[in-house]
Amino acid sequence: MSKLKTLITEGAGSIRPTEVEDYMNVGGYNGLKKAVTMTPEEIIGEVKKSQLLGRGGAAYPAGKKWEHLLHIDIFPKYIVCNADEGEPGTFKDKLLMGKLPLRVIEGITIAGYVFGAKAGYIYVRGEYRKIQRVLKEAIMHAKGAGFLGKNILGRGFDFDIHVISGAGAYVCGENSALLNSTEGKVGRPRIKPPHLAEVGLFLQPTLVNNVESFASIPAIVEGGGSTYCEYGTPDSGGTKLVCLSGHVNNRSTYEVPLGLTLRELIYDPELGNGIPNGKRLKFFHLGGQSGPIGGPDQLDTPYTYKGLSSNGLSVGSGAVVVMNEDVSILEYLKGVTEFFLHESCGKCVPCREGNKQIYKILCRLATPGAPEPDDLNMLRRLVDTMISASFCGLGQSAAVALNTAWKIFKDEFEINAKPQALGHAAA
Ligand SMILES: Cc1cc2nc3c(=O)[nH]c(=O)nc-3n(C[C@H](O)[C@H](O)[C@H](O)COP(=O)(O)O)c2cc1C
Ligand code: SF4
Repeated sequence: MSKLKTLITEGAGSIRPTEVEDYMNVGGYNGLKKAVTMTPEEIIGEVKKSQLLGRGGAAYPAGKKWEHLLHIDIFPKYIVCNADEGEPGTFKDKLLMGKLPLRVIEGITIAGYVFGAKAGYIYVRGEYRKIQRVLKEAIMHAKGAGFLGKNILGRGFDFDIHVISGAGAYVCGENSALLNSTEGKVGRPRIKPPHLAEVGLFLQPTLVNNVESFASIPAIVEGGGSTYCEYGTPDSGGTKLVCLSGHVNNRSTYEVPLGLTLRELIYDPELGNGIPNGKRLKFFHLGGQSGPIGGPDQLDTPYTYKGLSSNGLSVGSGAVVVMNEDVSILEYLKGVTEFFLHESCGKCVPCREGNKQIYKILCRLATPGAPEPDDLNMLRRLVDTMISASFCGLGQSAAVALNTAWKIFKDEFEINAKPQALGHAAA
């Protein structure tokens, strides 16, 4: 039996993306048609039953987020789709928006109906110019067919969606920075609380969800939350789009049920199909640059939110970057740190300075004769400080890869370090 599913990718590549008629031929708009016959509470009940965890990286329960917003009695409310997709190794939202934009639009429209919102925004990664055009065309066609705009499906419900081009910074994917950027301000994170459900876009109550989260909503409403949940495991409901890249034979995006093992994802002939040229796996990096690194010993971990977290790993954005035996972990981590160094917005010291110092130490550790006596201790302290004291998720997660790789490849960190440094680090 095939390991691939098409619960939310049905029609991807086989229909004309922006044509409503084509979309309806693969079940499109059945979710919205059903939603408008239900109460907001009933819809949220299904989202809760689905066990859908936010697909943008933080894995926050979607039902809980929706319920919180529903109970806030301030209007207008806004719906925002996070389509910044800045996490390296992640390209699943691009697939959804490029091949099935109407499914994303349908999910956002259902949210608009639930919260009585009049406007929704899709904040699309600046580099995705073509995708922005596809979305705008799909929105126009949805309006023409009565699924968007005034008096949707004759129910007296008005809702419109605007496409915003992202500012080109990774931090703009952080939900509060994204709202600042959407408002035309500098894309820097806000202090929380207040929660965005209370004080969000234009200081109004706001729902922010990822593209894949919204694209899952029509299936949840149409088939019911329990049915959706059954595709995955009881604590990690549904399917997940996984982006396989790096040293793997079949680099692509796959929709899979949550619960396959990492080994299946990387080695199954229908999925990653192993590592090119018969090389051995050295490590895999999950969820983008901000996610953890795992080694061959962890290959039998089930790819579920709980399974991964109990093994020190996480789903994150859904990226799975595979690296073979030829890759130096220190060189790899230098690349990761360079990314964060470039993307740090500079607002807080732990992230602004921490990335800089980590990069310098990694360069020394990778060069025979260069490490200074206290480098390993200093690295440890910098990692701890950044994780605990950075202002936003970027700084808090910038050293996660390093922190997890350290445990697996201690020898490589220590190979060039001076003997006294080893003594300090062990203490
Ligand atoms: C630095 C940083 C970058 C982020 N980038 C993205 C992104 O590109 N796309 C995304 O959906 N979420 C991103 N997030 C997570 C969002 O802040 C937020 O959790 C998400 O949009 C909520 O949607 P979800 O609950 O559906 O996952 C980022 C978070 C941080 C800290
Ligand atoms: S952790 Fe601090 S410096 Fe880094 S991106 Fe967030 S606010 Fe900016």
